[in-house]
Amino acid sequence: MKITLSVIKADIGGYVGHSSTHPEVVAKVREVAEAGKEKGTILDVSVITCGDDIAMVMTHTHGVDAEPVHKLAWEAFLAGTEVARKLKLYGAGQDLLSDAFSGNVKGMGPGVAEMEFEERKSEPVIVFFADKTAPSAWNLPLYEMFADPMNTAGLVIDPSMHDGFTFEVMDVYSGKAIRLKTPAELYDLLVFIGATSRYVVRAVYRNSDGEIAATASTQKLSLMAGRYVGKDDPVLIVRAQSGFPAVGEILEPFGRPWLVEGWMRGSHTGPLMPVSFAQAKPTRFDGPPRVIAAGYQICEGRLIGPNDLFDDPAFDVARERAAHLANFLRRQGIFEPHRLPPEEMEYTTLPKVLEKLKDRFRDIGEPKAKAPGSGEGEIHE
Ligand code: 13P
Ligand code: 13P
Ligand code: MG
Ligand code: MG
Ligand code: MG
Repeated sequence: MKITLSVIKADIGGYVGHSSTHPEVVAKVREVAEAGKEKGTILDVSVITCGDDIAMVMTHTHGVDAEPVHKLAWEAFLAGTEVARKLKLYGAGQDLLSDAFSGNVKGMGPGVAEMEFEERKSEPVIVFFADKTAPSAWNLPLYEMFADPMNTAGLVIDPSMHDGFTFEVMDVYSGKAIRLKTPAELYDLLVFIGATSRYVVRAVYRNSDGEIAATASTQKLSLMAGRYVGKDDPVLIVRAQSGFPAVGEILEPFGRPWLVEGWMRGSHTGPLMPVSFAQAKPTRFDGPPRVIAAGYQICEGRLIGPNDLFDDPAFDVARERAAHLANFLRRQGIFEPHRLPPEEMEYTTLPKVLEKLKDRFRDIGEPKAKAPGSGEGEIHE
């Protein structure tokens, strides 16, 4: 059976501040989602949370970008927002940028990751869900999962993965994408995905047959809204086993925390901490950024799960290291590189402050910088 797995997520109100969701709001989203299941719009749904964000994990047969599925998610988030408003939760309806639904939630605020596939004899999938960060947080772990044999032994050992994987990389500013095949074009791939402020991995495909392996939400809230409305807090779907990386190979990159953008006011660099569902409540300096891993076995379109995959003491060291990194970075306060560089700050509330002061800058006779590529001042090796 060909099924579609759609994960649609939004922050519709925080409890307290931006740290968590309120049970009544989550219950309302679940109620609307379950009604959609009763009606037959979707086959199954699992509602999960990370920090102040709620994700609807749905299975159905309508394909990706299907209006009835997107509409159901939109209506569930609207109903949840009403509850959040009643409780005066923080930022009620935060990620819903529009009042009217127009066929697809893309561009309206919620994050979306969807894939369609023929359900295998056994179909294990993992839904990663992060809070206080951006879609580029997935660049490094996706590279390790699908292109680094030091992480994924299967790339070497398993003949069904030996041909490698193709990455679809999107330029978040132009909306254009490029497909790069690994291992042959690995170094080209890294030129782009190492530049996390601009390029994000949108999907990964298996080279041997073009089968979809992973897909991520790449929506950037500030670019959609044209102002800072919070961080994107992305989701990522990865298929596991039998020609894809094993569950443990997919989780392995999270065993060593790395730095991502987000955290307080979406304006800082911080470590991504892998946590259990219960620990997904970022409070220290509104963070540090969190990620959960919800594992499912899909059975005739039903979601068997979620299994809380980071609820494993083997990830305690990663959590502890992330806490140490957080401590170290906090020493840096408002100074870069803890605070994001100016180009990134353009998408926060800082421009309002700069606007107020811009006329105070005076020419003091110092030379202006040359434009890059102008030929002058270049270093010749
Ligand atoms: P089990 O013997 O526990 O099924 O493990 C198989 C395996 O390949 C683990 O990576
Ligand atoms: P959220 O995107 O999780 O709402 O975070 C916004 C923020 O500014 C946290 O400090
Ligand atoms: Mg919030
Ligand atoms: Mg959030
Ligand atoms: Mg957010």
